Amino acid sequence: MKNARLIVGICGASGALYGATLLKELLRHPVTVHAVLSTDGRKVMGHELKFKSDLPAFLRQTFAFTPHRQARLLEHPVDSFFTPPASGSFRHDGMVIAPCSVKTLAAIAAGVADNLITRAADICLKERRPLILVPRETPLSRIHLQNMLRLTEAGATILPPAPAFYFHPQTVQEMVDFVVARILDQLNLSHTLVKEWGHETI
Ligand SMILES: Cc1cc2nc3c(=O)[nH]c(=O)nc-3n(C[C@H](O)[C@H](O)[C@H](O)COP(=O)(O)O)c2cc1C
Repeated sequence: MKNARLIVGICGASGALYGATLLKELLRHPVTVHAVLSTDGRKVMGHELKFKSDLPAFLRQTFAFTPHRQARLLEHPVDSFFTPPASGSFRHDGMVIAPCSVKTLAAIAAGVADNLITRAADICLKERRPLILVPRETPLSRIHLQNMLRLTEAGATILPPAPAFYFHPQTVQEMVDFVVARILDQLNLSHTLVKEWGHETI
């Protein structure tokens, strides 16, 4: 997907590493990524990954990777609607919320567009653009499940962070990579995180 525009929301659910790994992998491509961290997403990322405030520096230090020379990362404040993701006129190729809290899941399912993440997601649904939600909570209540069904019926993809074990993961990062690989598959973006089933290395 050349010169794609993507939106990534990171909420205050556990699993900030899913969002950080996704950003890193997206930036290996010639894409523009519009990133939005919720207020609690920022705090949980600080708690889980010692993230402070500079997202590009954090990604470079955490992953020691080389972004694609045409990749761009634009971070927007979660309370600003004066940004591209807040408008349906902003044409893009999809949005991922990883991790997604059940609060944000509920807001989107109810059509409550009260911050930039929920607003951008709401636009995806009305404009029929790809919306991939990676909700992390367990166990799931009837309300959570109903919200997921509602969102699926509205066109979103619910992609639970459920790593498989048949590829014999040795590290937490490998388990996270499996989930991020599934997200990239949904976006039709290439990766080498996990080999397709049937390759000799699995
Ligand atoms: C350390 C920590 C872990 C959390 N883990 C989860 C979680 O896994 N799932 C969830 O839905 N909420 C979790 N929460 C609660 C959310 O952060 C809280 O509901 C917040 O209001 C979500 O808002 P947001 O979706 O705007 O980020 C956690 C909170 C903290 C402090």
